[in-house]
Amino acid sequence: MCGIVGYVGKKDSKEVLLTGLYNLEYRGYDSAGIAVKDKDKIEIIKSVGKISNLENKIKKEKVLKTNIGIGHTRWATHGEPNETNAHPHRCGDIVLVHNGIIENAKELKEKLEKAGEVFKSETDTEVACALISHYYKKEKNMKKAISLAIKELTGSYAFAILNVNEDKIYATRKDSPLIIGVKGKESFIASDIAAILEYTNQYILLEPGEIAEVDSNGLIVTKNNKKIDKEIVKTSLSASSNDKNGYEHYMIKEIMEEPVLLEKMFENNINNIPDISRFSEVHIVACGSALYAGMIGKFLLEKYSHVNVLCECASEYRYSNVAYPKKTLVIVISQSGETADTIAALRKAKKEGAYTLAIVNVETSTIARESDEQFFISAGPEIAVATTKAYMLQVAALALISYNSAKQKKLIDFDIKEDIRLIPKLVKDIIDKREEYKEIAKEIYEKDNIFFIGRLIDHAICLEGSLKLKEVSYIHSEAYAAGELKHGTISLINKGMPVFAIVTDDDIRDKTISNIEEVDARGAKSYIITTRETKLKDTTIVVPKINPFMQPLLVVPILQLIAYETAYLRGCDIDKPKNLAKSVTVE
Ligand code: AGP
Repeated sequence: MCGIVGYVGKKDSKEVLLTGLYNLEYRGYDSAGIAVKDKDKIEIIKSVGKISNLENKIKKEKVLKTNIGIGHTRWATHGEPNETNAHPHRCGDIVLVHNGIIENAKELKEKLEKAGEVFKSETDTEVACALISHYYKKEKNMKKAISLAIKELTGSYAFAILNVNEDKIYATRKDSPLIIGVKGKESFIASDIAAILEYTNQYILLEPGEIAEVDSNGLIVTKNNKKIDKEIVKTSLSASSNDKNGYEHYMIKEIMEEPVLLEKMFENNINNIPDISRFSEVHIVACGSALYAGMIGKFLLEKYSHVNVLCECASEYRYSNVAYPKKTLVIVISQSGETADTIAALRKAKKEGAYTLAIVNVETSTIARESDEQFFISAGPEIAVATTKAYMLQVAALALISYNSAKQKKLIDFDIKEDIRLIPKLVKDIIDKREEYKEIAKEIYEKDNIFFIGRLIDHAICLEGSLKLKEVSYIHSEAYAAGELKHGTISLINKGMPVFAIVTDDDIRDKTISNIEEVDARGAKSYIITTRETKLKDTTIVVPKINPFMQPLLVVPILQLIAYETAYLRGCDIDKPKNLAKSVTVE
């Protein structure tokens, strides 16, 4: 996902821009650039690869000390990662950076070329820049030019824009996030608060169609040329939220935070858990790990709250022809709250009249603001691209919600409040056995293919275990419904192939154990994670037996740590795996 930063104030803008871009690295990128303005000159510096390349180039080119500038990290969508396609882009007097996708860029480009515009890059962003420049030449007024241009754009965008004739930054957005940090007369534009926490914890949220003008006197926000008074929001996060606190990687730091965050979540939510017992049909929609957390929620709601649950990835759901019977609840799950497919699924659900509940981490995100009800997991900034703590808190949130629904319907007579008090310590004990998981990682890190098998809720856990391993270690892995293996895929099992088997659901325990015997018979090296010893001789990790709503929380950290240790042994870029972005804000 691209990242935007901008600054107006007394500091040297290039320093603030570089700091902000480093703080946005976790979003994933392949090139970066800044534009700084001094009197009637705008200097643009861009580079491919790491931000340190950009920093070295800025130093080498002795870039001016100025008080106004914009910066960008690009995650290539239109056009390969190179300096020409990197942002900022310049057309005439206009210099612009962009996060999002302009879906009608091709038609607009043809129209502008007919009007004499010459394009240098392959990007949709340059088209947006040229369109604003086109209207600026006509109107000689930036707000008018921006308003006219955005009326013609379809797709998603957050823009920070410079004009060589003005000591101002203009900002506007639709569907891509953009905030403006404030501190006295200084203003800090950013795609998310993590970029500017070392400067300020106060910010305003731009809404779609609003245009912010930022200069040395502060900022003015208008919509349809009418001034709008914006509420200043304060975050409890601090710059230390971005530190590794002595850990080698954010991923391991964030796994280690899980016990404390679970304790905080239970304390903050135990008396105000959303009650979804009135709904007759539930859809759970998300992407990636969030989807796999949703799968756990599906099995818990179906088994204990007796409600049908459709759990589907957002990229399919948004285009599906699913029915919406009366009293349908759609639960969307998203750490970033900016995942394009999940936003689209949320909007589809609302358009169809469904009630929407968001299980979300970023409180200022689009999903948080557009859903009917929110369950904030309050995981703090999650910097590692591979989610761990946020996923765990999503699972914990679904455990509370499904437990509360079953309780409200009087379908269960047991209480989990005592267990909730024990969970943080039990999870910490599990995490403290890290050395045991390191030994398993040593056995598997050179393998090419690894399977995860389980049934029902255990299959849902396998899906996340497999994704985590793939994401950070690049080992091919597959999660499979244990009973389904024999319908073809078992042909792939060969001697020494690692198979992780998750066996926590007592009702189908024996069935999964017989599936483990099937793969063992074909030479697999099985690793069993279960709640009590089995008769099998395979490597077995026994976790404490606890109520079924919370049981996944005692298995997941093991799989997260095995993935981390395996990636570590393989020398992978653990916090920023290749090709991945922290939040996929494009389709
Ligand atoms: C998880 O490790 C991945 N980075 C990815 O699958 C992620 O869960 C997915 O893109 C959804 O992101 P979101 O929770 O921010 O919507």
